[in-house]
Amino acid sequence: MAEAQFIKKVGHFYAENKRPLPWRDIERLTIRERGYRVVVSELMLQQTQVQRVIPKYNEWMQRWPTIDDFSHAHFADVISIWSGLGYNRRAQYLYTTLRSIIRDCQGIVPNDVTTLLMLPGIGLNTAGAIIVYTYNSPQIFIETNIRTVYLHEFFADTAEQITDTQLKEKLAVTLDIDNPRQWYYALMDYGAYVKQKHGSHLQRSVHYKKQPIFKGSNRQIRGAIIHILAREQSVEIATLKTEIADIRLDTCIQSLSDEGMIIIDGETLRLPHDEMV
Ligand code: ADE
Repeated sequence: MAEAQFIKKVGHFYAENKRPLPWRDIERLTIRERGYRVVVSELMLQQTQVQRVIPKYNEWMQRWPTIDDFSHAHFADVISIWSGLGYNRRAQYLYTTLRSIIRDCQGIVPNDVTTLLMLPGIGLNTAGAIIVYTYNSPQIFIETNIRTVYLHEFFADTAEQITDTQLKEKLAVTLDIDNPRQWYYALMDYGAYVKQKHGSHLQRSVHYKKQPIFKGSNRQIRGAIIHILAREQSVEIATLKTEIADIRLDTCIQSLSDEGMIIIDGETLRLPHDEMV
């Protein structure tokens, strides 16, 4: 499809179908508060669907409406809210990243990719998204909905595997450099629609990684441990073994402890409170 026609189509779609997502209601905010909301939402959205993120994001913002409110948060409280979003390590990354932004950057999200990449949980694409949404600055980044859109519109007639570099070339010539934030919102919404109507097309992306099966995985056991600790504050290892009967329990406890996600205190486990996560 011709680029100009594509830009028009996405623009029309967005005008009629934009989703009023809570993390997009940021234009009236200061850069500092905008950046805070963008970082929280982008890390929540990394591997979790929009509909599951909405209530968690709202709960988070009720609890810590500003980045200064968040400066008093404990990791244990973050984990409690995170419970249900999956991939608990991401909660740890988010907590540590926000602490660094508060401590080292006066609470202002860095406006350059290199600095953002030094923060945990932030890769190239998340860094690009954070800069676009916070600063409305024209960065090129790819995520799953964007892959779907460009595969569908520009690479529909080939059976070849397509790289992100190929997709980025198309993104670069179609990006609205005057209002990149809105252009990416539009791509996200159009991508959700294309996925529903035509499938994701992601099997043709070289870079697409399928999420591993959760049921029966170490991740499920680790999630169950965190879930219990968020509920009980602390728990005896022996008690945990009655709740989670799996030979991998000890290994999972150890790996969570090595990563700083939990504290082993003799025979008892708990979530870290004031220790630096
Ligand atoms: N709006 C802003 N970021 C988004 C994302 N990652 N997914 C869906 N909508 C968004």
